[in-house]
Amino acid sequence: MRIAISDDALAIACGADKLAEAFARAAPDAEIVRTSSWGMQWLEPLVDINGMGFGPATPGDVAAILDGGSDKAIGKIEDHPFIAKQQRLTFARAGKTQPLSLEDYTETGGWVALKKAYEIGPEATIGMVTESGLRGRGGAGFPAGIKWKTVAGAPGDQKYIVCNADEGDSGTFADRMLMEGDPYCLIEGMAIAGHAVGATKGYIYLRSEYPHAIRKMETAIKASAHLVSPFKLEVRVGAGAYVCGEETSLLNSLEGKRGEVRAKPPLPALEGLFGKPTVVNNVLTLAAVPNVLSEGAKAYADYGIGRSRGTMPVQLAGNIKQGGLYEIAFGITLGELVEEIGGGTESGRPIKAVQVGGPLGAYFPPSMFHLPFDYEAFTEAGGLIGHGGIVVFDDTADMLNQAHFAMEFCAVESCGKCTPCRIGAVRGQETLERIRAGGRGAGACEALPQMHNAKSSERSLEDEVVLLTDLCETMKFGSLCALGGFTPYPVMSALTHWPEDFGLEPAS
Ligand code: NAI
Ligand code: SF4
Repeated sequence: MRIAISDDALAIACGADKLAEAFARAAPDAEIVRTSSWGMQWLEPLVDINGMGFGPATPGDVAAILDGGSDKAIGKIEDHPFIAKQQRLTFARAGKTQPLSLEDYTETGGWVALKKAYEIGPEATIGMVTESGLRGRGGAGFPAGIKWKTVAGAPGDQKYIVCNADEGDSGTFADRMLMEGDPYCLIEGMAIAGHAVGATKGYIYLRSEYPHAIRKMETAIKASAHLVSPFKLEVRVGAGAYVCGEETSLLNSLEGKRGEVRAKPPLPALEGLFGKPTVVNNVLTLAAVPNVLSEGAKAYADYGIGRSRGTMPVQLAGNIKQGGLYEIAFGITLGELVEEIGGGTESGRPIKAVQVGGPLGAYFPPSMFHLPFDYEAFTEAGGLIGHGGIVVFDDTADMLNQAHFAMEFCAVESCGKCTPCRIGAVRGQETLERIRAGGRGAGACEALPQMHNAKSSERSLEDEVVLLTDLCETMKFGSLCALGGFTPYPVMSALTHWPEDFGLEPAS
């Protein structure tokens, strides 16, 4: 009997280690393996016994599971609707293999893509990545092939591959799951990128909040060093600043400097790490590359819609019944994702809003659930898909509070380099507090009463809203990077779709 239990951080947090120990005691003859997670987070810890699933399981369930009479049975895992309907390319191994087993990785198609890249050469490798339509999965959606071509063509004796693993968006965990569950896939993707652009050195900039991922990546790098040589890889641990997910402050931090944003140009592709041509790609972008090379550019590009080709590992989080990782071709609607797949709210109350794309993403009401998951469609609708995080809120959410949180987050995380963000985010909080108080400078938000009572003004509620809108315009167009520039998305979407939460007439 093969009993598989995930060693993903989320499963461990839910009790997977204790559960594995309980199975080891109860079934000493069974083969107990620790695999990656299937991504059905509401069922963790999930036990996989010869392909049949039980979850969420506790040590108290072990006897009944082994006797075949457990009410935690979910049937064959691969047939579960949450899994069966996915199109897993990047997460093809999720739930199935042992993360650090080189044997498992090789047996499931590992290293085939790297061999192919060596065979066809750098130019053809870049050509395949370009043809696949793969775009940056960190959020901006810039075509990966074009970025690689720029670095390949840039003059320089030393070039670098930098993996942005500083996954800081609220409600996102796909980078973490990939690094913990399939670390060799990322290593292979980075080695292919290195070969394609002529870089012999790579860095994975990994946030300190991901200790399991750090350990696994470091172990996997050591174990596979001979397979990717002469390409060399190193993990560098970030200290927890959201802005270090922005590529230029990440590079500064990697160089040992303060994590402050650099003005672009020059692009990192031309003058990046230590002033050398550098590919900066997100974990999911690099981890998608082995599939592109081994299955072919067309096979990848056949998934998706419009200019959004391939699949997106969507992360369902917040107040949602069935949260987890759902990899699917671009084009699925927001409504399908949160209502059909996610099963609505965990609280059982109606959905009020979903925030897509992290703390800088817009809030969408159910009336916009027809929106297809697609870079362009979201941009047109005043939002972004970002890194694919979806956070669900029920009808108890106060959207003015959410708007205030966006400004507060920006103020706390701002690197301080430019005025619209550094000062704008503080003024934004103050303005929202006056709106909360009904305008005319009367009182202030309960959160920070001391700041604003002193300067009461004669502005009406409507005047304050105009001021907020104006401030958001200034931040959007005047900020140096996405932190200040995108904070207006959550603020303005909250105001547009839920004006009643701001004391205004409801939207018609
Ligand atoms: P950007 O649009 O300035 O650049 C996108 C990428 O393309 C960068 O790597 C840039 O260097 C590169 N690039 C642009 N033109 C190029 C050219 N001609 N040749 C080669 N490379 C070129 O966007 P930015 O500021 O890098 O990222 C903004 C995005 O980051 C937002 O869309 C947001 O969703 C996302 N974001 C993601 C977070 C996360 O946790 N994953 C956190 C915060 C923001
Ligand atoms: Fe720094 Fe904010 Fe300006 Fe970005 S927008 S450079 S985080 S001050």
